[in-house]
Amino acid sequence: MKVGVLGGGTMGSGIVQVAAQNGHEVILVDLNEQILIKSREALEKVLNRLIEKGKMSEEDSEAIHARITYSQDMHDFAPCGIVIEAIIEDLAIKKTVFKHLEGVTKPSCILASNTSSLSIASIGAALEIPDRIMGIHFFNPAPLMPLVELIPAVQTSSETVQKSKELIAGWGKVTVVCKDTPGFIVNRVARPFYGEALRIYEEGIADFATIDWAMTTFGGFRMGPFTLMDYIGNDVNYTVTETVFTAFYFDPRYKPSFTQKRHSEAGYLGRKSGRGYYNYAEGVAQPQPNEDKELGKQIFERILVMLMNEAFDALFLQVASRKDIDLAMTNGVNYPKGLLQWADEMGLDVVLSKLEALFHEYGEDRYRPSPLLRRMVREMK
Ligand SMILES: NC(=O)c1ccc[n+]([C@@H]2O[C@H](COP(=O)([O-])OP(=O)(O)OC[C@H]3O[C@@H](n4cnc5c(N)ncnc54)[C@H](O)[C@@H]3O)[C@@H](O)[C@H]2O)c1
Repeated sequence: MKVGVLGGGTMGSGIVQVAAQNGHEVILVDLNEQILIKSREALEKVLNRLIEKGKMSEEDSEAIHARITYSQDMHDFAPCGIVIEAIIEDLAIKKTVFKHLEGVTKPSCILASNTSSLSIASIGAALEIPDRIMGIHFFNPAPLMPLVELIPAVQTSSETVQKSKELIAGWGKVTVVCKDTPGFIVNRVARPFYGEALRIYEEGIADFATIDWAMTTFGGFRMGPFTLMDYIGNDVNYTVTETVFTAFYFDPRYKPSFTQKRHSEAGYLGRKSGRGYYNYAEGVAQPQPNEDKELGKQIFERILVMLMNEAFDALFLQVASRKDIDLAMTNGVNYPKGLLQWADEMGLDVVLSKLEALFHEYGEDRYRPSPLLRRMVREMK
């Protein structure tokens, strides 16, 4: 099957590499010729590094390059069995582009979007035959991150879902299927990792370094929330939170944080600007955590039960299956364990009582325990 990719930026280039490495002929279309040149050069660099490391032969690298066509003309998508769109995150532009895509592809061609935050249904509404619309959400960097979220819209046919799943799983990716809801699985369930950490800081319970220390030491997370937000970029992470918050009709559970907003406004974007929650200038000593074990454990458990609550609610509202929710968090954001399995190990009654204590303490809807968790604890008795 020929694979089309629209948009040769960060994500599009990564998806092209994955498809071409898996033996497909790929057509990459971008409006901007310079982007196409950059995309080709970036791929060459990556493949050369693999050759140097002895992980790829020169012949394989040449074959991959030979399978990719770079073009500025969407008509070149005509023979494709699937086109994956990875252009700017703007609904009006995506809709115009999908209308155009429908005109230049065969009726059986799956039309997929890599959008992180737009509804697949709204993009599909631009199509005359919307049963071939699909959300196919790769994570950055696409060649390295194992997870791909598959998001059928209300218009999508089961055949489109099945074909997409077979194709992406065939590329060695871990696929999970989720409902067309804000943040899909990962960007929804992970919100408290950032939000609750920020809230703990805002209450003056601990500083950034201590919260990061608590999550890596007691939770086994690869990075603490503030280190991770500095990696992602505070502007990017804040926008995702705000988008999810708005899309959930301002559910207080997803309320963005002023601390993050101010850091973002100040240009403290994280590693990319040299300063975020931490200062990355050369020679600057990093702040040391307060290694009070009791405090660390409290911080870790508070963030963890909020994450678990989010996972239970996603399951309650049938966003995805239990298995897929856990797979998504371990493969999309490298969590040390699936949250639902982790909750079982911790004891569902323990998780619920910690959430109830928070809810009682603050009286905020943000801390309301998921009805599913309550039901499961009740049924355990
Ligand atoms: N960057 C991430 O971490 C990430 C992760 C998952 C999903 N996404 C989603 O993937 C999509 C692309 O994100 P990105 O970070 O790769 O963006 P990017 O800015 O790196 O690349 C977008 C590319 O699209 C091209 N483009 C814009 N309009 C076009 C058009 N009409 N026709 C053809 N090409 C066009 C631009 O020239 C640019 O090269 C977005 O929907 C984003 O939400 C991003």
